[in-house]
Amino acid sequence: MKSFIRIGALISGSGTNLEAILKACETGDISGQVVFTGSDNPEAAGLKRAERRNIPTFVTNYRRIIKDYRNNPDPQKLPRDFSLDEIRSKQSFFAKATDPAKVETFLRTRAIAEVDLLKQIQSFSFDLLVLAGFMRNLSPYFIDRINTDPARPRIMNIHPALLPLFAGTDGYGDTFRYGCKVGGCTVHFIDYGEDSGPIIGQRCFAIQETDTIEDVKNKGLAEEWKLYPECIQMFADNRLRVVKMTHTLPSRKIYQRRVVKIIQE
Ligand code: GAR
Repeated sequence: MKSFIRIGALISGSGTNLEAILKACETGDISGQVVFTGSDNPEAAGLKRAERRNIPTFVTNYRRIIKDYRNNPDPQKLPRDFSLDEIRSKQSFFAKATDPAKVETFLRTRAIAEVDLLKQIQSFSFDLLVLAGFMRNLSPYFIDRINTDPARPRIMNIHPALLPLFAGTDGYGDTFRYGCKVGGCTVHFIDYGEDSGPIIGQRCFAIQETDTIEDVKNKGLAEEWKLYPECIQMFADNRLRVVKMTHTLPSRKIYQRRVVKIIQE
């Protein structure tokens, strides 16, 4: 069933993906409209792209929130419905061996920031939340309050690498330094790990011997601007299903993963 969707966007930087999404909404390549743009960074240049189109914007200042908590780790700042044990057991950003104090501080500061983010977001009605260069990990505290129907996730991210390779903050840099001959980008639904959710779409490009890291980034971004609108439109067309797949490996071990199945038009 095709529908017109309301899209919320979160950005941290220049917002060229946001621009591609806004243009696709204007040309009808996406049957939808961006209803708000938020950022963790008050300096994000991309906020201007939304303001120019009279789209409401807001900032949740993560840096200040994290600094305030580190200076004064007052448990009163935490939301009342925050359970550290619950969020810690769900998240998979950190390996089991990671210093527990580090994990706790991370999850507490994120929940404090996410309460503010949720408060701002929930004043809008939206169908899909797109992370367009949003450089903060969203914790299970936030995700569970947006994905209220487990069968229909509605937070998408774009990542500058062919996942599951090179998760993290510098996908094109990692691709270039590794000496890859092909780079790419991935759109996926968010889950409780870092860039680990079900993959919706990917695009790739050749890396030539003479390419610099800047060339790789430019080639990658040009693919992102096509890929993200395509994936958003598949969501609007209700063509994305997340299903749990089970495989038996040659070793007889069972491998299970939630993957996106794309319904043909
Ligand atoms: C894009 O390359 C996007 O894939 C990446 O940030 C850039 C944002 O550019 N996202 C991540 O690395 C997320 N972990 P933009 O602000 O010009 O859209």
